[in-house]
Amino acid sequence: MSESQKWTAVDRYIEERLIPKDEALEKALSANRDAGLPSIDVAANQGKLLHLLARMQGAKRILEIGTLGGYSTIWLGRALPADGKLVTLELDPHYAEVARRNFAHAGVDGLIEVKVGPALAQLSLMAEEGEAPFDLIFIDADKPNNPAYLGLALKLSRPGTVIIGDNVVRDGEILREDSADDRVQGIRSFFDMLAAEPGVDATAIQTVGVKGYDGFAIGIVS
Ligand code: SAH
Ligand code: DHB
Ligand code: MG
Repeated sequence: MSESQKWTAVDRYIEERLIPKDEALEKALSANRDAGLPSIDVAANQGKLLHLLARMQGAKRILEIGTLGGYSTIWLGRALPADGKLVTLELDPHYAEVARRNFAHAGVDGLIEVKVGPALAQLSLMAEEGEAPFDLIFIDADKPNNPAYLGLALKLSRPGTVIIGDNVVRDGEILREDSADDRVQGIRSFFDMLAAEPGVDATAIQTVGVKGYDGFAIGIVS
């Protein structure tokens, strides 16, 4: 068995034991496939991690940057109380439409607002309009904009807000200082910002599994 086959088998093992089959989440993935969306959603055990972190945080207001078909959004949305709210930002109107259908099917559409358009503009507008701070922010869109997303996320935070970033390891590519890949440079600047920003205390964890070798960053705003 190759290393990556082993990672996949262990993810399956974890999933079989700890993540009960869920019709709405499975339907979301198959609807995404049918609609031609790329399968770059978080893995099931990662989605459940996001869900558990949101519950541990007691989150009532969640912001997600990068919806795709809403797989991670459903996991996060299900952590909310009945009066909770999740705002998710997506550039592609077709993806957003697929996500909205998935939310309706999962019965979480009443809690979720999808804002369509470039996330930078949406975030700036929310900050300008004095949107109330979020309890948890998940950054998972175009990686070159990660530093800008972090800056705006901080404006939409309060002391205690949890900020999570996906895809912060990319097969270890983040080690390449001189990478020509602007996604890698975006993640590197994101790390530099986290390091320099006294207002957030952070770490990062490398992950392996069905989605390959990658990682999450997690921080708390002070
Ligand atoms: N969070 C999702 C995966 C998101 S994939 C999940 O785990 O299920 C990244 C998404 O970010 C894609 O849908 C892509 O269209 C979107 N995206 C890319 N650039 C963007 C931008 N400038 N503004 C908003 N969304 C963007
Ligand atoms: C990509 C984006 C993601 O959010 C992800 O989890 C994996 C891959 C990508 O753009 O390639
Ligand atoms: Mg991601």
